[in-house]
Formats: sequence, C-alpha cells, structure tokens
Amino acid sequence: MANILCTGIATVDIINELDQYPAEDDEVRILSQEKCRGGNSANTAVILSHLGHQCHWAGTAVAPLTGDHDCQIILDDLQQHNINIQYSRFLDQGKVPTSYISLSRKTGSRTISHYRDLPEYPFSAFKQIPLENFDWLHFEGRNIKQTIKMMQFCREKTPTTPISLEIEKNREAIETLIHYADIIFFSRQYALMNAYKDPRSFCIDFSQSYPEQIIFCAWGKAGAGAAFQQQFYWQDGIKIKTVDTLGAGDVFNAGIIHQQLMQQSIQHSLQYACQIAAEKCTTKGLIA
Ligand code: FRU
Repeated sequence: MANILCTGIATVDIINELDQYPAEDDEVRILSQEKCRGGNSANTAVILSHLGHQCHWAGTAVAPLTGDHDCQIILDDLQQHNINIQYSRFLDQGKVPTSYISLSRKTGSRTISHYRDLPEYPFSAFKQIPLENFDWLHFEGRNIKQTIKMMQFCREKTPTTPISLEIEKNREAIETLIHYADIIFFSRQYALMNAYKDPRSFCIDFSQSYPEQIIFCAWGKAGAGAAFQQQFYWQDGIKIKTVDTLGAGDVFNAGIIHQQLMQQSIQHSLQYACQIAAEKCTTKGLIA
C-alpha cells in the first residue's frame, strides 16, 4: 500500500444516456439520467484507493455549509471511497465544476460539455502539504502557472518521489510541465491535435524530446503505447462490448501508477492498465 496524492479537479457529472449521439438541433429523449462525482484526478484517486492505496485528493471545492448540493455529492463520494480531502481548499461561495455528458448507448462514447467558474487549486494551498508523507504524486496538466510551481516545489522538497502528469488537452505552455514529471500520460486527443496519426510515432518522437520521462499514450479501443529510451512498447486493446467509456483514461492512469509502484515493467504495466480500463468500459460507472 502506498500513500498517493492526486492534485486536480473533482466535478459533478450529469450523465444523460441517449440511444445515440444527436445531430445538431435535434430533439431526443434521454433514456436514463444520473448525477455523480467525476473529475480526472478524483477518478484516478478512487481507482487507486480500490487497488488498496491510501489516497489524498487536493483540489478546490465549496464549503459544505454554503448549501451547494452538488459539492455534497462530490464530498460524500470521496468519503465513501476513503479519499482523504484534508489538503483540499474549501471556498465560502461558488459552484463546483459541472460536466454535462451525453453517453451513447450505441457506441459507449461520452461527449462532455464542461462548465466551471470555480477558482483553481492554488500553489499557496499546495505548499502546506507535507510532501514527505507521500510515495507518489499525480498531477493533471491544467492551471499551468500554478501547477508548475507545485511540481517544482515537489522536486525541491522530495526529489526522489515519483511524479506522474496527465496531458489531455493542448493548453498554452502545457509542455513546460513535462520536465518535472517522471511519467506522462498523453491522451489520443492530444496526439491527434499535434498532427500525429498513430501512437507509435507520437510516443517515439516525444520520448526523443523527453528522454528522461516514460511516455504513455492510450489509443482508445486499439490499445495503448509507451516509449522510454528509444524503445516502443505496445499493448492491443482487449475486445469487449463497450457500454460506457467515461473515465476510462483515468482508470488507465491509475493502473499504470499501481504497477509502477510495484516496480513492474512498462509492458506489464500497459497490459494491466488496458485490462482494467477495458473492464471499466463494460459497465456503466467508474468501478466495474
Ligand atoms: C472523465 C472526467 C469526467 C469529468 C471530465 C472532466 O475523464 O473526469 O468525470 O466530467 O472528465 O474533464
């Protein structure tokens, strides 16, 4: 069991299950609706907790007494999954970030419209965390100016503690974070937006640019790749009937962190992470 700190966001997800994704200006009937906690780093923390680790989530939320019922959904869920929130920041006003998600019954795809106006988690809160208590530090690539300070601080205070970083979107200056991490989880979306058409060339090129880091890139149903020191690794996706892909990337990241904590090889880590991400996709919800 390891002590893991996941820094990033928690959201309320309003999931509308539809027959299929609608066309613009269509009017469609929702088959089922669910409101639950989401957010990349919070999702990853929940999975790691299920895998037996002690997880902390550091992010911004709204103080329970403000009457934001959605925030209560987040806090209750984190508590239920044994996630410690003592280093999170609670604001006296505001509304937690909300994702409106269209889940297609036909394909299992999830289309996310995300709304937020809550301030991001600041470095001033992060620097109060006793980093020496943690075995692994995981970050989301967002809130770049503050996150880079957090990652630099980790390198100064606890230089040997592994750091992982998720890079999902092409945000301004996001690549400045890479240098401070040991493991990077890139999304397929990021690779495609940077004009790569396949995971192999993406991983190899990025590994050349960042030779100290292990580069991972999950490629949906097809599988996932990784590169380190000029070597490329690949794991085919497991054939399943896809029901719900929401959060699959967050589960994949948790699988890699779990295996790397146990000193497993890159190939084995890929195999395991693809397996649990596929299992997640076979049922609705985060936990298969
Ligand atoms: C899934 C997810 C959702 C959330 C959105 C945030 O990976 O974390 O739970 O609404 O992404 O971008």
